[in-house]
Amino acid sequence: MSMIEMIKDKARKNVKRIVLPEGTEPRTVAAAAEILKEGLAEPILLGNPEAIKAEAEKQGVDLAGICTADPETSEKAPAYSEALYELRKTKGVTPEAAEQLVKDPMYYGIMMVKSGDADGLVSGAVHSTGDMLRPALQIIKTKPGIKIVSSSFLMDCPNKDLGEDGLLVYADCVVMPNPTAEELAYIAIAAADTAKTLCGIEEPRVAMLSFSTKGSAKHELVTKVQEATAFAHELAPDLLLDGELQFDAALNPEVAALKAKGSPVAGRANVLIFPDLQAGNIGYKITQRIGGAECFAVLQGLAKPCNDLSRGCSVEDIVNTVAMTAVQAQ
Ligand SMILES: CC(C)(COP(=O)(O)OP(=O)(O)OC[C@H]1O[C@@H](n2cnc3c(N)ncnc32)[C@H](O)[C@@H]1OP(=O)(O)O)[C@@H](O)C(=O)NCCC(=O)NCCS
Repeated sequence: MSMIEMIKDKARKNVKRIVLPEGTEPRTVAAAAEILKEGLAEPILLGNPEAIKAEAEKQGVDLAGICTADPETSEKAPAYSEALYELRKTKGVTPEAAEQLVKDPMYYGIMMVKSGDADGLVSGAVHSTGDMLRPALQIIKTKPGIKIVSSSFLMDCPNKDLGEDGLLVYADCVVMPNPTAEELAYIAIAAADTAKTLCGIEEPRVAMLSFSTKGSAKHELVTKVQEATAFAHELAPDLLLDGELQFDAALNPEVAALKAKGSPVAGRANVLIFPDLQAGNIGYKITQRIGGAECFAVLQGLAKPCNDLSRGCSVEDIVNTVAMTAVQAQ
């Protein structure tokens, strides 16, 4: 069974309510019907109900059994606006501004998740990553014990000798442009948690990547990864984590035997932590485009799951992301 099928199976076992703020967007409407048909979640579409209905009719899609809510007219809007004002008043949000903000489906959806009226949120078919992330960071905030929100890419590689039966978790490839050593340590711990809870990897083995292996090069960029490794050991002493390691030393047992003898992780890592967003983002695209891996992105570290889509996403991408969000919410 592929990784995404495994995740879908898990989602069906404990069905969660996932809000889709871009509720009138054609791919989102089609995805909602598919999500309900496959029993992956209870989708909630936000937007004008007439516009949602018209889009469904245009596509010949059956929305029977799917909840919708209109942020412009919803009975819940005053309560969400009051709660939003309380949460953000110290940041300069006035009651009037809060009232306007909850009319925006992105903020309305985030307030549904915050207040427990939905278990998770998926957006980004229309919104940019920043526009989707900002309200989630401002309102949902991080999980206790985790200081920052970051992302993991689940890479399902054709070469099953790699990682965990071909599955590798890459972080961070979306959120933190230039993490400090401490932030890198939090990214590593969150990625190990994603590997365990979402991918079912019982023993995450985390490699802190660099262009150096165990002091082979000296540079401030290498020092940052060494410091991050030390921080991560302090934060999670039981986690199998090692650094700094080059990509080949992390994945290949022969290279590991030469360059990082005795490492509990080198040569068999299944979670790879990139030193910054440039490396992470380029790394996942190389693995996808040249390595032929299928890739699935999730945000990690948020107190409740919210996930971003690429604006070029397909209906299938939305369905898959909703399934992953539902499992994160379990
Ligand atoms: C994440 C991101 C959207 C933050 O945007 P920003 O405009 O810089 O936001 P701010 O710095 O004003 O922060 C907004 C709030 O989020 C919080 N925040 C920002 N980044 C955070 C993080 N990684 N984890 C937790 N909280 C974070 C801030 O503390 C702030 O909270 P506050 O308003 O309660 O004080 C920005 O870092 C970003 O655009 N990252 C790259 C995303 C991207 O384009 N990726 C492309 C790859 S696909």
